[in-house]
Amino acid sequence: MIYLDNAASTPVHQKVVDEMIPYFGEQYGNPSSIHKLGRAANTAIQNSRKRIAELISADSKEILLTSGGTESNNTAIYGVASEGKGRHIITSSIEHDAILEPCKRLEKEGYKISYLPVDKHGLVDVNDVQKEISHDTCLITIMFANNEVGTVQPIKEIAYMAHKNNIIFHTDAVQAVGKIPINVNDIGIDLLSISSHKINGPKGVGALYIRKGISVAPLILGGGQENGLRSGTENVASIVGFGMACKLAKENMGQNTVHFKSLTSKLTARILSEIPQTNLNGHLEKRIPNNAHFTFLGVNGEDLIIKLDENKIAASTGSACSVRIQKASHVLRAMGFSHEQITGSLRLTVGTTNTEEEMNQTVDILKKVVQELRAVSPYKSKYNF
Ligand SMILES: Cc1ncc(COP(=O)(O)O)c(C=O)c1O
Repeated sequence: MIYLDNAASTPVHQKVVDEMIPYFGEQYGNPSSIHKLGRAANTAIQNSRKRIAELISADSKEILLTSGGTESNNTAIYGVASEGKGRHIITSSIEHDAILEPCKRLEKEGYKISYLPVDKHGLVDVNDVQKEISHDTCLITIMFANNEVGTVQPIKEIAYMAHKNNIIFHTDAVQAVGKIPINVNDIGIDLLSISSHKINGPKGVGALYIRKGISVAPLILGGGQENGLRSGTENVASIVGFGMACKLAKENMGQNTVHFKSLTSKLTARILSEIPQTNLNGHLEKRIPNNAHFTFLGVNGEDLIIKLDENKIAASTGSACSVRIQKASHVLRAMGFSHEQITGSLRLTVGTTNTEEEMNQTVDILKKVVQELRAVSPYKSKYNF
């Protein structure tokens, strides 16, 4: 299998697996227990928290461990909203559902939510953020990098705008962490969501960075773990794996970026020159290095995924994080794409284990299957295929 769906999830690194194994075996203590086994589990969690913090230049006390990006986003939104400092939230129209759905729920409860538009490259305009700010705005939440087209937002400028107006700034950085160096202090981020399984760690674990001094109400109540912000016995093995994944992501970011860029440039150059009537979507420069997103006119993206799968290539049309039902992408719609352009889209996201040879094989197969699908396309005569 050639795996080109690394934005959906990544293979767990062998060093991460090795680090986790003792916590399924002899290290079974509950981190809240006072005895030796409990203390060992607690120490493992604190060491991981430090590794997670280091990846974003935070302090380990500012890391709240969660079950992943979805919970981190929900905690940021409900957690800030529950503090009662205002009933207006600013977000963008291209966020992941883990932001949009909690916002919709708050809307039903009477909150006002502003969904900012984006341009054809998927970029938010900082002036639009400014225009929406009101005395009632309690939170601005804008994603760092988009999960479908990879566009990277002007996060530093938006954070600056938020703070100038005394508003808390959150960013869903699930797709950006490990791909772009992030220093929460330099950028001025108050809350930041991370997910382990996007950076070669295990699934079902993540973190919310909470800047010292920012109050967030807990979503889950109980025994008071995580400083009372998230009760429940910690998922020790996964947290340990996540910590190792962060350590590796930090150590290897430079070489990974070079590798990702080289693979996506190769893919893009060959696809655009060898497959006619094809576009690269997203911003040309302001994008995460591992994402390449295309529209093949006259082709149905789902049929393309199935054909690629038959040829042992794993790809995606876009967001695949919730259920297998494909809905028309709200991201591409917000970018002004027509229905036909939306249905003809394909996302290829590379990872650490991909090779140049795989990129060449992918383009060779893609050329063949796009041609086959266009031969039977209802748009055959319209586009002269
Ligand atoms: C931008 C973004 N936010 C949030 C999530 C959800 O993260 P998790 O799968 O860890 O819940 C994803 C998953 O794809 C994502 O891409």
